Amino acid sequence: MRSDLTEVASTYMSLKRRGRNMVGLCPFHGEKTPSFNIYTENNSFYCFGCGAGGDVITFIMKIENLDYIEAVRFLAQRAGLSMPENNYDDSMMQLRKRIYEANRSAARFFHNVLYSNEGRAGLEYLYSRGLTDKTIRHFGLGFAPDNRFALSNFLRDKGYRENELVQANLVYKNKSGKGTNDRFYNRVMFPIIDVRGNVIAFGGRIMTDQKPKYLNTSDTPVFKKSGNLFSLNNAKKTTDRTLILCEGYMDVIAVNQAGFENAVATLGTALTSEQAVLMKRFADDVIICYDADEAGQKATQRAIDILRKAGLNIRILTVPQGKDPDEFIRKQGSNGGAAFYNLVKDSKNDVEYRLNKIKSKYNMKVADQRVRYLNEAIKSLSSLEDDIEQQIYASKLADETGVQKESILSSLRSFRRKNERNQEKKIQRQMYADLSGRDDKINPQHRSEPKATNAEEMLISLVINHPDIASYVYDKITEKSFVTDFNMKLYGYIMDRIERGYEPLTSAGEDFTQDEISKIYGIAHRTITAKVSKELVDEYIKIILQEKNKVNKEDFKSLTPEEMREFIKKQRERRE
Ligand code: CTP
Ligand code: MN
Repeated sequence: MRSDLTEVASTYMSLKRRGRNMVGLCPFHGEKTPSFNIYTENNSFYCFGCGAGGDVITFIMKIENLDYIEAVRFLAQRAGLSMPENNYDDSMMQLRKRIYEANRSAARFFHNVLYSNEGRAGLEYLYSRGLTDKTIRHFGLGFAPDNRFALSNFLRDKGYRENELVQANLVYKNKSGKGTNDRFYNRVMFPIIDVRGNVIAFGGRIMTDQKPKYLNTSDTPVFKKSGNLFSLNNAKKTTDRTLILCEGYMDVIAVNQAGFENAVATLGTALTSEQAVLMKRFADDVIICYDADEAGQKATQRAIDILRKAGLNIRILTVPQGKDPDEFIRKQGSNGGAAFYNLVKDSKNDVEYRLNKIKSKYNMKVADQRVRYLNEAIKSLSSLEDDIEQQIYASKLADETGVQKESILSSLRSFRRKNERNQEKKIQRQMYADLSGRDDKINPQHRSEPKATNAEEMLISLVINHPDIASYVYDKITEKSFVTDFNMKLYGYIMDRIERGYEPLTSAGEDFTQDEISKIYGIAHRTITAKVSKELVDEYIKIILQEKNKVNKEDFKSLTPEEMREFIKKQRERRE
């Protein structure tokens, strides 16, 4: 089975052909201009923006948050084939499966408790917050009893082991070290469900003023809070590719009950670009609907930047009178849906929102303040990439301030040129940093050995792309002569794969970490279109050997007598 990366990736993102390759906005980090490339000739990808890279399996691992075996299985199922029952070590996958099942049982348990005597307080609390039974059922809300062993007793009876429940973060080991306590007790429970319908985590709200108000599942093998959104399982059904982004669980639920199923919320943390990219899979437009307080407004500004980078169109909905959406809707009583719809209709796009914010700081009746407004507004608009957008807002500014549109536009252009120059400088700095290895986390020796590292990487790159030169190269240099440990390991690995008749990187996903894979594909892509020549190869080998010698000599000076003896012994071995 070999899945075509272009075909697989295009279900997650839109791709355009560029020469032999495909390019698009990277689904692994937020960006406005595409730096994600698919190389069709070897079915691999690399993003020049964030350095993510790999093959089709790596792609699925990253985007679906699966481990290696699960990704292979996922692709097999996708291709309509069933995997032979495996004899791989799939203990991690088994654990994840158990956690999904335990979570689902827990969600059922909490829901049943809510509608029993033990859950009366919880149910009354939810009613007091205006929720109907239909909404409660729709979200599978529940109640964790006021008893620190209720859930674990229930799940143990169902055959779950302590370790599984700890890993699911449903229980934690208590201080005495013997036995466990339930993580959630005496709280109203909100199950968090992913887009594939798995219960992946919970949020629990206390019913008093005690703290923490909400308690959430920590990250587990099936849950990463920075990469999921509450209620996306409902919201993904949106037919007009629009999502409403709220701050809290109760806001999402209230907005749903008012008739808008496309609301989501982050899970107790600020919005991440990973979440923005996830939203882009289901939407083109996002309406930010945060609380009207100052914290909410700050968060709005951050969210605008992140969502924009992911290529989403943004509108900002302002809830009147400093309320949050839930309070607003409830205050409106039976008119809640219509009132909220009006807010949606009145929502402003992010540029208008930004300009309004700036304007509110100045008194437009005073000439001097109008000028300051204009300057600040122009600076803000200069970040717009779209010419038409700039034209439209320049007209608007001209109307507001009485300044000619032409001079506004020319001032905009000069700001833009300045931005571009800064951008250029930033890219150059980044390239220099890459070459110097300053930020190389995978190969920390890169920094102190930039010359050797670059030659090693180029040589490895050539071998990956031209496996036919492997035996020529290996005769001249073995991994023992490599200077940096990571490249030494990688070179040995690749040579071994080729020697055994495999493609060098097809199972790298099993043998290296995700970050290492990205790095390796980054190396591979460096020479993907390069012609290989004996001179080129020899040159890199020469550099590596020279640098290796240098390293040895430098080491020499600081050696203790024992180390010296050890060193001489090693040198002998190497010659043998
Ligand atoms: N949150 C959290 N932990 C807390 C407080 C808040 O995880 N201790 C998260 C929850 O997801 C919550 C969101 O932040 O839904 C917004 O918090 P906040 O505005 O304080 O609460 P509301 O959503 O207004 O909650 P409620 O209406 O139930 O008071
Ligand atoms: Mn609230």
